Amino acid sequence: MILKAYQTVRYRTQHKVMKYLSMVLPFPVPDILQGPGSVKKLARRIQADGVKNVIVVTDKVLMELGLPDVFLDSLDESGIEYTIYDEVMPNPTIECIEDGVKVYKAEKCNGIVAFGGGSAMDCAKIIGARVSNGYMPIRRMKGNFMVWLPLPPLYAIPTTAGTGSETTVAAVVSDPKTHEKFAINDLKLVPKVAVLDPELMVGLPPHITSTTGMDALTHAVEAYIGLNGNPFTDDKAKAATLLIFENLEKAYSNGSDLEARNNMALASYYAGTAFTRAYVGYVHAIAHNMGGMYGVPHGLANAIILAPVLEFCRKESEKKLADLAIAGGIGELGEPAEDLSIRFIEKIKTMNKNMKIPSTIKELKKEDIPLIAKRALAEAHPDYPVPRIMTMEECKKLIGKLLS
Ligand SMILES: NC(=O)c1ccc[n+]([C@@H]2O[C@H](COP(=O)([O-])OP(=O)(O)OC[C@H]3O[C@@H](n4cnc5c(N)ncnc54)[C@H](O)[C@@H]3O)[C@@H](O)[C@H]2O)c1
Ligand SMILES: [Fe+2]
Repeated sequence: MILKAYQTVRYRTQHKVMKYLSMVLPFPVPDILQGPGSVKKLARRIQADGVKNVIVVTDKVLMELGLPDVFLDSLDESGIEYTIYDEVMPNPTIECIEDGVKVYKAEKCNGIVAFGGGSAMDCAKIIGARVSNGYMPIRRMKGNFMVWLPLPPLYAIPTTAGTGSETTVAAVVSDPKTHEKFAINDLKLVPKVAVLDPELMVGLPPHITSTTGMDALTHAVEAYIGLNGNPFTDDKAKAATLLIFENLEKAYSNGSDLEARNNMALASYYAGTAFTRAYVGYVHAIAHNMGGMYGVPHGLANAIILAPVLEFCRKESEKKLADLAIAGGIGELGEPAEDLSIRFIEKIKTMNKNMKIPSTIKELKKEDIPLIAKRALAEAHPDYPVPRIMTMEECKKLIGKLLS
């Protein structure tokens, strides 16, 4: 009991310090190229920055789809040399990043373009961090502010509407040796330019559209209900929630709906803007470990874990969940906060159901639960400013609910 009280005071003190820091830190904001076809404008910008030879970090799926072609043609037209590094896998590993660093150096590049989902963007970010900080192994960059020297110019072209990595200070890496997934957080990881082009998202398959969209919703919700939000992040989180409620199922059922795709690209960016300043919570702490342990896609893990975590902290977050229900257009001012908060959680469950997202994690093994809980709490405490602090027993119980 005394230990728990001591821990609560320690965590809450740290949260206050971080809240203050997040308000005074000069978070860089990428320049935005936005709207259908905007990807064609990036080459000119790269040229104007004096960058002559870029590494394009992407994956084989996107190369086979020919998705980067329009962009690569525009690089040719602008006389910018490029080398394609397409070895990125979902949940990028340390090895995959180190291979990218070798290519960057061998080809004497002087800029980086991330073309893809969060995996490509995070891989590109850490390639950049390693190129500039050669003495610093990736594992030692884990945590906050461990990237000392600035990255080469970094440009992000997201092709999923989910992670918000195009505007965040974070990059997430998997360590296959320990089956851990960890984040590197540094202001220097924010790209110079982010391209939000919905045309690149039209071919995103429905099951990736849905899960990456639920990742964006998780960012908005965790940023809003956590204790470190401020009026700026609150506005972004509310705007993202409304856009996601209104557009995610449309984009899921009709991938060619350009307006829905455009709104989801914006929602993902807004949610990224919110959580990079206000942080995430237990949904991400547990989801990262499902990714590290079993390779469960990040968005899918978040989509499944979001409702159980909100049920765990519903009372503590009642007012804020009610705000989000109103902001998301599923409630009215004046309705009881309890009803609105319950309706908000039900809405998440309904969206998952409509988009055929399961409510359990099929890879999860009962015997792994203690280790996953231990690692999830080690990730969350003391950094994540969660509305209700979870004990080890509560965490194990919650993860147990995710068993098939
Ligand atoms: N840095 C951050 O702030 C941040 C935030 C949240 C998540 N993440 C990380 O991002 C990663 C997940 O990223 P993600 O959810 O965007 O998925 P992803 O990048 O792993 O991509 C998932 C799959 O979708 C395919 N794909 C992507 N765009 C496509 C398109 N337009 N058309 C067809 N297929 C396409 C990819 O080839 C890949 O096979 C995880 O490692 C997660 O931890 C990072
Ligand atoms: Fe996420």
